[in-house]
Amino acid sequence: MGSRLIGYGSYLPQRVMTNQDFEKIMDTSDEWIVQRTGMRERHFARDDETVVDMATVAARRALENANISVNDIDMVIVATTSPETDFPSVAVQVLGNLGATNNAPGFDVRGACTGYIYALHCARAFFTAGMHRRIMVIGAEKMSRFIDWSDRSTAVLFGDGAGALIFESSTSSYSGIIDTVVMADGADLEMLYGTTDHHIKMNGPETYKKAVTLMPQAASYIMEHAGITADNVDWIVPHQANLRIIQSGAQRLGFPLDKILVTVDKHANTSGASGVLALSYAFDNNIIKKGQLVLYPAFGAGLTWGAALIRV
Ligand SMILES: CC(C)(COP(=O)(O)OP(=O)(O)OC[C@H]1O[C@@H](n2cnc3c(N)ncnc32)[C@H](O)[C@@H]1OP(=O)(O)O)[C@@H](O)C(=O)NCCC(=O)NCCS
Repeated sequence: MGSRLIGYGSYLPQRVMTNQDFEKIMDTSDEWIVQRTGMRERHFARDDETVVDMATVAARRALENANISVNDIDMVIVATTSPETDFPSVAVQVLGNLGATNNAPGFDVRGACTGYIYALHCARAFFTAGMHRRIMVIGAEKMSRFIDWSDRSTAVLFGDGAGALIFESSTSSYSGIIDTVVMADGADLEMLYGTTDHHIKMNGPETYKKAVTLMPQAASYIMEHAGITADNVDWIVPHQANLRIIQSGAQRLGFPLDKILVTVDKHANTSGASGVLALSYAFDNNIIKKGQLVLYPAFGAGLTWGAALIRV
C-alpha cells in the first residue's frame, strides 16, 4: 500500500518581524542577516498564541482543502519541538479542538528541524502496513519562545508557524509519500540544543558544515533507492534553515537554482514546521503543481537528518 496527498493547509502568525526590526533592538544589520542567511522576515506568534492554536488552524485549513471532516482522519502525527505543555500531546489537543469523535489516535514526534520528515516516515510505515486510511501530518512550532535575545547569532534565525498535509492510502506506490529515510547521530549533542531554561544554543559554523553534507547525503540515498537522478525530480524543497545551506546542498546534488524552493526569506527557520509550510506556500502560489515529484531533505538538532520523496 502507498499513499496520495489529498489536502494541505498552513498558518502563519500575523506579526511580522523584519530584519530592520532586529536592527532596532540588537547589534545586527539587514545586510549581515541577508548575506549570511537569506532571511528578510519571519512571523512571531502572539504571547497567548500557542503551538496547538497554530496547528489547529493549519489542520482545519487542510481538512477544508481536502473537503473532508475531522472524523475522516484516522491518525494525526505532529512534528514539534516547542509545545507549551508536556502533555497531552499537541496531536490530541488538535483532535479535541477540531471536535473529533472517532477516537482516532494522535501523537507528537520530536525530531527538531527534521521532525516533519520523521513524521512522514511514520506515516509511510503505517500506510505500507495497511494500518491507517487517512493520516494528517502537521509541523507546528513557536520557536520565538526559545530566543535568547542576548545572542544575536541565533535570535535572528527562527520563526513561528504551522503546516498540515493529509495523505490517504492508495494502491499506487508512485504517489504520495513514495520513500523516506531518517537518521540520527548523538555524538554532537552540544552543536545545537535547547537549554533547561528554554534557550537555543548553537555552534553556527559547525552546524553549517554538517548541514551542507548531511542533507545532500540523505537526498542522494533517496534518489539512489528510487533509481532516479536530479533530472527526474521537479522540485527540491530543503529544510529552510539558511539560503547558503540550501543552495550549496542542492547544487552538490546537481539541481539547478530554478528547481529549488526557497521560503527562508519570508519564514526564516521554523524548525519542524519548515518543510510543511514551504510546501503549502508553493501550492498556494501555484509554484509546485499536482503530480510533480518533490525531494524533501532536512537536517536539525540531534543531530537528526533525513529526506522524503513525495509525488504531490
Ligand atoms: C549562524 C550563521 C548564519 C552564522 O554565520 P557565520 O558566517 O558562520 O558567522 P560566525 O558565527 O562565524 O560569525 C561571524 C561574525 O558575525 C557576528 N555575528 C553573529 N551574528 C550576527 C548578527 N545577527 N548580526 C551581525 N553580526 C553577527 C559574529 O559575532 C562574528 O563576529 P566576529 O567575527 O567579530 O567574531 C551560520 O553559521 C549558519 O547559518 N549556521 C547554520 C545554522 C543553522 O542552520 N541552524 C539550524 C540548523 S536546523
